[in-house]
Amino acid sequence: LRLSFVHRAMKQQVWSSQHHLQCQASFKVAILGAAGGIGQPLSLLIKMSPLVSTLHLYDIANVKGVAADLSHCNTPSQVLDFTGTSELANSLKGVDVVVIPAGVPRKPGMTRDDLFNINANIVKTLVEAVADNCPGAFIHIISNPVNSTVPIAAEVLKQKGVYDPKKLFGVTTLDVVRANTFVSQKKNLKLIDVDVPVVGGHAGITILPLLSKTRPSVTFTDEEVNDLTVRIQNAGTEVVEAKAGAGSATLSMAYAAARFVESSLRALDGDGDVYECSFVQSDLIDDIPFFASRVKLGKKGVEALISSELQGLTEYEQKALEALKHELKASIEKGVKYAQKQA
Ligand code: NAI
Repeated sequence: LRLSFVHRAMKQQVWSSQHHLQCQASFKVAILGAAGGIGQPLSLLIKMSPLVSTLHLYDIANVKGVAADLSHCNTPSQVLDFTGTSELANSLKGVDVVVIPAGVPRKPGMTRDDLFNINANIVKTLVEAVADNCPGAFIHIISNPVNSTVPIAAEVLKQKGVYDPKKLFGVTTLDVVRANTFVSQKKNLKLIDVDVPVVGGHAGITILPLLSKTRPSVTFTDEEVNDLTVRIQNAGTEVVEAKAGAGSATLSMAYAAARFVESSLRALDGDGDVYECSFVQSDLIDDIPFFASRVKLGKKGVEALISSELQGLTEYEQKALEALKHELKASIEKGVKYAQKQA
């Protein structure tokens, strides 16, 4: 019985890969920082996508082995490796989606902002190359502090005259993934059904899960709201401490980033029903030029910012929204100033 189950599963796999071959889209994805803790599992997950024809892996070191290894997986996409700055431009030619997990991660005791000095320059340099070689691509920024690195990327693209705010994304999907997991555990819900929007930014109190907007509709006690909110905000630190010096979230981050890439590719492929939370240029909150909210994705990037979820907030959420504005604004300004000073 077990054998026939395996056989059926294999047949199913063959059928579905043939099916994918017939209706397969063919997008090119580049990962910058592909040999890192996030880069490697993310590359593997993207290698499994039927929507990808070519996967470009770029890093300053160790990327050849990752690409050789990955290239043996019998999924349709081709894997190419690019090492060092002399190969950066080629890694970006013709690319539809660029994902940037390059840079240093946190160690215990560090905030995301402590990474600014190193990662700001890495993101600046990489986005300059994106502007020169694939200015029309969707850009997914994972490198922290996202609240500052996304504004840096925007400034760099402006300086190059190719800024399209609809195509620049700070990846906050991990906050949503965590919120969904923790809420489903706490309320005993089927994971697949749970969807919690997370707005604001991607650091500490700027991460604001809107628990009152959880789907399916569910009620929480005040204590549950506070416990869940604080846990979601500190979930990254939970992993940093558990890894005790060996880095921050990599596997759950790769899972979350792969989901965001897949959603972007589905949108590029013409699916008209793709929504994700992301940190993007926004006018939803006065005086805060970048803000994470749910967005509708389309072929040209952000098609709409979903403002309805910011209406009818609970008192707790309203207070938390007020409380995050100062820090978020300061982090955005820090990024903008940095990029303008370097110009
Ligand atoms: P890691 O140190 O394991 O990997 C980083 C990779 O970037 C390395 O392979 C390194 O060689 C490469 N790199 C460094 N400078 C580069 C350059 N100039 N060009 C290309 N590649 C370069 O770090 P990990 O754990 O993969 O984290 C990467 C970043 O992602 C960190 O900044 C971390 O804070 C951030 N992160 C973001 C999350 C989010 O939710 N947005 C969640 C978890 C981490």
